Amino acid sequence: MLTEKIAQIRKDAEAALALAKDEGILKAWENTYLSRKGELNSILRTLGTLSDEEKRIVGPLGNETKTVLYLALQKRREEVENSLIDTDVERLDVTLPGTPASFGHLHPITRIEQEIQDIFIPLGFGLADGPELESEFYNFNALNVPADHPARDMQDTFWLKGKWGKDRFVLRTHTSSVQIRYMEKHKPPFRIIVPGRFYRNESTDASHEHTAHQFECLMVGEDVSVANFKSVAKSFFSAFFKKDIDVRLRPSYFPFTEPSFEFDINCLLCNGAGCPACKGSGWLEIGGAGMVNQKVFEAVGYPRGKYQGFAWGFGLSRLAMMKYGISDVRTFMSGDLRFIRQF
Ligand code: PHE
Repeated sequence: MLTEKIAQIRKDAEAALALAKDEGILKAWENTYLSRKGELNSILRTLGTLSDEEKRIVGPLGNETKTVLYLALQKRREEVENSLIDTDVERLDVTLPGTPASFGHLHPITRIEQEIQDIFIPLGFGLADGPELESEFYNFNALNVPADHPARDMQDTFWLKGKWGKDRFVLRTHTSSVQIRYMEKHKPPFRIIVPGRFYRNESTDASHEHTAHQFECLMVGEDVSVANFKSVAKSFFSAFFKKDIDVRLRPSYFPFTEPSFEFDINCLLCNGAGCPACKGSGWLEIGGAGMVNQKVFEAVGYPRGKYQGFAWGFGLSRLAMMKYGISDVRTFMSGDLRFIRQF
């Protein structure tokens, strides 16, 4: 009798479960068949009133049925959950146009750096590089700027804590330190360019920045002269600005060159006639240059008097400002995307 009842309950339960289509119905079903007050447990609770023989049959059958129904419920619950995903909505339409990927572009300083390289490499110049965290030796001493020399005041310097052997650490104040690093490892003749970042402990304004980019040029051989310098400079600036450019040298002082010059190019706006951009002079100041001081050659172990060469250095940022008509040097390192996106 009871075994038939249990079999019937299982049949009904399975039929009802197959029709259950949401969690609410599943809950009600669970309540009806499997809860403490559900049909199966009600029968099992009467076991005590049965004969031993009946107990041995009804007990295991009832428990087994409970397990079967419990597993069936779990399976059905999973099916119901899966069926709730609307495949019409979720289907992947591979024919839809994709979200366009946005491309970045090069920073204007990087672009200028690359343009400069493109002009110099065909002229036979190599590319050299060095660390931005420098030792006092490479940044100053080897360039004929000993400690306590007044020339140290020409470049406001970030000194760092800690020492490099006997040397102090500096954030390099110019790319000229790479002259030394390169010459220590190479014998003339050679010609190189060194674009790079440098740091000065300056209060900033529209034309001064603590972090800026510079461009060094160094050509050394047995008979390199100022004439070579003027010619290379003229070819470079003419190619860079895509017009005929004149270079003017004015006497100046740098500890690592002798003689030293400031060099100017004729004003791009008025071609030398005089305008507000060049303050009426017709010339724009570009950078420092000179014939490498023999003391610098000595510092890298070249015999005194054997070689001569020219070096020059100018601000890359300044060149970029002239090329793109930018009035404030601080914009380059500002990280302001509105500025960067204009290029
Ligand atoms: N290093 C110098 C500066 O930063 C520029 C320079 C380079 C001058 C090479 C002469 C020769 O001011």
